[in-house]
Amino acid sequence: MCGIVGYVGKAEAVPVLLDGLRRLEYRGYDSAGLVILRDGELFRRRAVGRIKNLAKLLEEQPVAGHLGICHTRWATHGGVSEANAHPHLDRSGELALVHNGVIENYRDLREELIGHGCEFRSQTDTEVLAMLVGRELDLRGETPVTKELLLGAMRKALRRVQGTYGIGVVHRQLPGMLFGARRGSPLVLGIGKGEHFLASDVAALVTHTREVVYLKDYEMVTAWEDGFEISSLAGGGCSYEINTVEFGAEEVSKGKYPHYMLKEIFEQPNSLRDTMRGRLSSEEATAILGGLNMSNSELRSVERVVLSGCGTAHHAAMVGEYLIESMAQLPTECEFASELRYRNAPMPKDTLVFVISQSGETADTLAALQECRRKGHRSLAICNNVASTIARESDGGVYMHAGPEIGVAATKSFTSQVLVLNLIALLIGRIHNLSSMQGREILKELEQLPEKVEKVLATGDAIAALARKYASCKNFLFLGRQANYPVALEGALKLKEISYLPATGHPTAELKHGIIALINEETPSVVIAPSDAVFDKNLSNIEEIRARKGPVIAVGTEGNRSLEEVADDVIWIPEAPDYLVPILATIPLQLFAYHLAVSLGCDVDKPRNLAKSVTVE
Ligand code: F6R
Repeated sequence: MCGIVGYVGKAEAVPVLLDGLRRLEYRGYDSAGLVILRDGELFRRRAVGRIKNLAKLLEEQPVAGHLGICHTRWATHGGVSEANAHPHLDRSGELALVHNGVIENYRDLREELIGHGCEFRSQTDTEVLAMLVGRELDLRGETPVTKELLLGAMRKALRRVQGTYGIGVVHRQLPGMLFGARRGSPLVLGIGKGEHFLASDVAALVTHTREVVYLKDYEMVTAWEDGFEISSLAGGGCSYEINTVEFGAEEVSKGKYPHYMLKEIFEQPNSLRDTMRGRLSSEEATAILGGLNMSNSELRSVERVVLSGCGTAHHAAMVGEYLIESMAQLPTECEFASELRYRNAPMPKDTLVFVISQSGETADTLAALQECRRKGHRSLAICNNVASTIARESDGGVYMHAGPEIGVAATKSFTSQVLVLNLIALLIGRIHNLSSMQGREILKELEQLPEKVEKVLATGDAIAALARKYASCKNFLFLGRQANYPVALEGALKLKEISYLPATGHPTAELKHGIIALINEETPSVVIAPSDAVFDKNLSNIEEIRARKGPVIAVGTEGNRSLEEVADDVIWIPEAPDYLVPILATIPLQLFAYHLAVSLGCDVDKPRNLAKSVTVE
C-alpha cells in the first residue's frame, strides 16, 4: 500500500522522483504528490489519480531542486482527494513527510494535537505523524533546527506511534538532508555516486543504482549527497550491510509488452527455471533447500504441516496441501492467513508452518507468521521479495527467485510458489516414503516443466481469440477437482480482479449441489479436466452442464479427443504428472483473464481498488 521515494544529489530531483513513483505505482494509484526543498522553501505539488496527473501538474507548475520526497497513495484513512494526498506538513509548514503504513492510534494523537493548537487539513493518519514530529521540535524550542534535533524529534514521535510506517522527511532548515525511518513497512536506501535515494521498493531505484541497504524495523536513516548514517530508534548507530540488487532496469520495465501482466505471464519458463536453479540434486534424487535451516532428522520429526497465505498465495497453499499429502504422506492443512492469525485452533507440537507471500509484506500473512512463532512453532516463509519483513521474521524458508512482479495481478509468483511447494513435498517425501527411483522421476519431470510452459504460451493467440469470443458474457464459473480446484479458484480470481466480471471457482463435483442453478446459455464454465484419475468424472460433469445449454471451455491434456467432443472449446496443455498440472493449467487461465480484460478496455496492470502489496488488515 502506498509507495514512497526520496532523492538527494546533484541531479534535478523531479524526474528522478517521478520515475521512481511510476515504478511504484503498483503499490497504489489513488493520488500522488511531492515536495521539493530549494533555497529554504518547500514546494509542494499534489494531484488526485494516477502519476500521470501529477506529471501533468508539474508541467504546468514546474519546480526545480535537488532534494525531494514523493508518494503514491492507496487510500486507507480519508477519501481520495488532493487534501489527503501526501506529502503532509507539520503545523509550522516547515517539515514535510510521506508515509507508507497505518498509524493505529492516530485518533488519540490527533485529539491531543488539536488540544495543542494543531489545525488539520486532511483526514489522514499521516498528517498526525507530521504534526507530531513538528510538535516535538516545537517543544525543544531551539533554532535553527539541526540534524540531531530533527532526529531526536522523530525518535520521540515515532516511539508514541502504534502501527506501521516507512517514512521520508525533509525540513526547510535542513537543506541537502533526507531523513527516513521504518517499522513494519519496507524502506530501502539506494547508494549512488554523489547521490542517495529512499524508496519503498528497490524497483524504484535500480535505474540509478544497485547498491542498497534494506533498513530494518526501528532504524532511521539520514542521507545527503556524499554520505549517509543509519541509527536506531532507541538512539545510537546501527551496523548495516550494503547489498547488490540482483536485477536491473530491464526487469522492471515492460520491454516489448503492452502490460506488465503479459510480460510476467511470458516470463514463466524462466522464472520457473530460476526457482529450481541449484535446487535439484540428481545424486540424492531430492530437492536441496538449505534456507529451511532444518536437518533431515528435524524434518522427519514434523508431524503436520500448515500452509498459509492470502489471495493467490492462499491458492498456492491449497495446491501445496495436495502436493505434500500425496507426495510426502504428511497431514497438511491450509488456512487463510487472515483467519489463522485470530483463531486459536489446536496445533500439535511438531507442526511446521509455511507462510507464502510474493511481497513478503502482507499484513495478515506477517501476523499469522508472528502468531505461529509466538506459540513456538517453527515457521518458515516462501517469499519472492528478498529482505522483506516476512522473510526476515521467519525461522528460514525458500526464496522464489521469480524476479520482480509488478503487475497487480499475481501470475509468475503463483507458479513459482507451486513449484517451491513441489520441491518441499519432494524433499519431505524423500525422507519418508519416496524411493530414489521415484525421486529421480520427479526431478526429470521438474526439469521438463519450463519447456512445457513454453508450449502452453505458444497457444497464446488461440487463447486470446477465445477470450474475445466470450468477452460479452457477464458471469463465469471455474471448476476443478483435487489440486485443480485451487486452480479454478485462481482462474476465477484473475478474471474478476482485472475484468470486474463475477467469476467463482468451485470443486467440480459440487456443481450438482447448488451451483448448477446458475448454468444457462450465457454463463460459460471453464472446466479443468486433465487426463487424470478423475477425468471420467469431469467428463460426466461437462455433459451435465451441456445438457443445460451451458457453454464449456475445457482445459485438457493434449490428444484427449473425448474432451473435444463434449466441450465447446478446449485449451490444450501438455501431458504432465498430477503434481505439475496445476502450474500448466493456470497459465492459460491467466492468459484468458488478461485478454478478456484487455478486450473490455480494462487497465489490467492497475485494476480498480487494488494494490499489489496489502500492508493493512
Ligand atoms: C491476486 C493477488 C493477491 C495477492 C495477495 C497476497 O492476483 O495478487 O490476491 O496474492 O494480496 O499477496 P502476497 O503474495 O504479496 O502476500
